[in-house]
Amino acid sequence: MSSLFRKCMVALTGVVIIASVAARQPAAQTPVPSPYVGADACKDCHSGQYASWAQTKHSKTLNKLQAADLEGTACIKCHVTGSPEMIAAEGATPSFPNVQCEACHGAGRLHVEAAATGDSVTARPAKTTEETCTRCHNEESPRFKPFYYTAMVGMVHR
Ligand code: HEC
Ligand code: HEC
Ligand code: HEC
Ligand code: HEC
Repeated sequence: MSSLFRKCMVALTGVVIIASVAARQPAAQTPVPSPYVGADACKDCHSGQYASWAQTKHSKTLNKLQAADLEGTACIKCHVTGSPEMIAAEGATPSFPNVQCEACHGAGRLHVEAAATGDSVTARPAKTTEETCTRCHNEESPRFKPFYYTAMVGMVHR
């Protein structure tokens, strides 16, 4: 009897400790959705741009990297899509591989959500500029080839 009582007390004490620790934890947080949504989320409304992009090398830039190149951010930072923080955190398993729409047009969640309600003004993507491209097309690229914006801009949605 007394041993059962002791077991009950031990178990009860455990419950009290767990409950009091749990009470001190902040309320469970709703995860913030990524501001990036990926090219498939653009496909239905921009099928022409999607189809042309899918034929460019931008849609396959990760294929050019060897397994060892996926370590750290030295290579993937220009071969995948996302914010610098996301790219660093996701490492070799990026949520948005390759140079997708949002690498040039910016994170698209707000535009997609607004456009779905018929509002194409809110969060409309900004115009691309030469700097959109030279973030990646610069001499930090070990395979750098000279970049001429006006000559090459027409190739991204040919
Ligand atoms: C629900 C439909 C819808 C979805 C999904 C959508 N868009 Fe749009 N988008 C629109 C509409 C409508 C416009 C305005 C077209 C116009 O006025 O010429 C637009 C305009 C644009 C423009 C042109 C802005 C300009 O200045 O001309 C870009 C770039 C763009 N969208 C990129 C994207 C990207 C990238 C995605 C995916 C992340 C996406 N869109 C998803 C409907 C959509
Ligand atoms: C390498 C950069 C790059 C990528 C990747 C890219 N775009 Fe674009 N996009 C551009 C440029 C440059 C323009 C030309 C208009 C401008 O100067 O803003 C453009 C124009 C557009 C337009 C405006 C209509 C037009 O044809 O001028 C839409 C819509 C668009 N892109 C959607 C997309 C979608 C959807 C994807 C992914 C499937 C995508 N883009 C991928 C750079 C890019
Ligand atoms: C996030 C990085 C990134 C951005 C931004 C970017 N590029 Fe690229 N681009 C690449 C990479 C990586 C390759 C190499 C693809 C390969 O060889 O497989 C490439 C290849 C290209 C090519 C040759 C590929 C082909 O299909 O013929 C052209 C042209 C090009 N980019 C133009 C542009 C233009 C114009 C812009 C801006 C509107 C731009 N890029 C923005 C990373 C980027
Ligand atoms: C600053 C952005 C950037 C970084 C960092 C980067 N790349 Fe790239 N990479 C590009 C761009 C842009 C291209 C397209 C060629 C060009 O114009 O530079 C490319 C093309 C390539 C290609 C295709 C070359 C070809 O001639 O077809 C390979 C392979 C490659 N990169 C490997 C790497 C490796 C490995 C690393 C890391 C050691 C790396 N890249 C880091 C931007 C970058």
